[in-house]
Amino acid sequence: MTDIKLQSIDKGLHGSITVPGDKSISHRSIIFGSLATGRTTVRHFLDGEDCLRTIEAFRALGVSIEQDGDTVTIESEGKDSFKEPLEPIYFGNSGTTARLLLGVFAALPFHITAYGDASLTKRPMDRVVHPLRQMGGKINGREQGKYLPLAVDGQRLSSLTYRTPVKSAQVKSALLLAGLLAEGETEISEDVKTRDHTEQMLKSFGANLDVTGTTVTIQGGQKLTGTDVYVPGDISSAAFFLAAACLVPGSDITLTNTGLNETRTGILDVLRDMGADMEITEHKIQAGERIGDIRIKYRPLKHTEIGGEIIPRLIDELPILALLATQADGETVIKDAEELRFKETDRIDAIASTLRSFGAKVETTADGMRIPGNQTLHGSTADSFGDHRIGMMIAIASLIAEGETVLTDAASINISYPSFFADLEMLQK
Ligand code: S3P
Repeated sequence: MTDIKLQSIDKGLHGSITVPGDKSISHRSIIFGSLATGRTTVRHFLDGEDCLRTIEAFRALGVSIEQDGDTVTIESEGKDSFKEPLEPIYFGNSGTTARLLLGVFAALPFHITAYGDASLTKRPMDRVVHPLRQMGGKINGREQGKYLPLAVDGQRLSSLTYRTPVKSAQVKSALLLAGLLAEGETEISEDVKTRDHTEQMLKSFGANLDVTGTTVTIQGGQKLTGTDVYVPGDISSAAFFLAAACLVPGSDITLTNTGLNETRTGILDVLRDMGADMEITEHKIQAGERIGDIRIKYRPLKHTEIGGEIIPRLIDELPILALLATQADGETVIKDAEELRFKETDRIDAIASTLRSFGAKVETTADGMRIPGNQTLHGSTADSFGDHRIGMMIAIASLIAEGETVLTDAASINISYPSFFADLEMLQK
């Protein structure tokens, strides 16, 4: 448990930083690099706790993975060279590692047990276990396989045609991975398009897949070939500084080489809608991922309504958007975001109790929140609840809260942004 004391600032944030690599893309680079034959070099990899769990899992399967800071080199002969792990696999706090690797483990000829930390142990795994069972997967655990720890008896999987009942890229990706390793053609459809990094990366490792609207079709048995991956800055990490610039008068910052994949840029659409002073310069597309610089300057924000199809495009940004809402010019409504209840914490409750501890009024609903604007925040002792995004929301709130804020369990921030406080300090110079 680490406690950090934070103070409000009276000078705007300035300067330019590149936030660490995208968490979703970093995980996938290790997964596809391990499944591929040959060498994969990953640059600007996110050296955070969650992604390290994915590296450790593939090391346990015998894959050679060397890490030097944010460069990772994977040498693999593909899945046929994997070995049965000797010990249970630890997924830590990482939902992405858990869901995606269950899709892989279900298709390997091994017995594998897997477990997670206290938070992950409470998060639903049945959303992937049920469809994997339809493919012939044998996965067992308490409450009919709803929760970790889980025991997987790998099988030859058959193909699947499936419409995902939850808006989740983790579910879609787990089933595409299982489909890649299964026999026949697997077709996954979703009601609302979720992040498509799996689809982009499959293509860059040489797989064929068809994407028509919100349906993805993949032929099983395709071989992947190792490649080089550059991981763009994580827009979900950038979001905290985008918000900080909107909150602290006088700010003018640039976040370079940030991922601009349109399945992730809902935050930019909402900021525009709220009247943010923002300029985006897109400068490259790498392995299907759009990358560019975002310059943002302080300007007071308007209230808004966030719901419907945009939700999966900003699901991880809702904690920081809720903080912004407290400073907008009227009430902001967030709806259709029931998935927040299944994150590292129940984020609807965690956001509300955190903002309330700063003296703000927040009304929660089953699928979101109503947040009045123009609220004065008062420094508070606030716990991250072990949730990295709640921890960073507290740190940004402290910049405008009157008096001192104490952030307890600040270490959770290492999950996705180990250099968060160093970058915050840099922007204050
Ligand atoms: C992720 C998908 C999202 C997101 C998580 C990462 C991914 O989760 O919240 O941080 O890498 O596919 P869900 O698929 O549960 O919505």
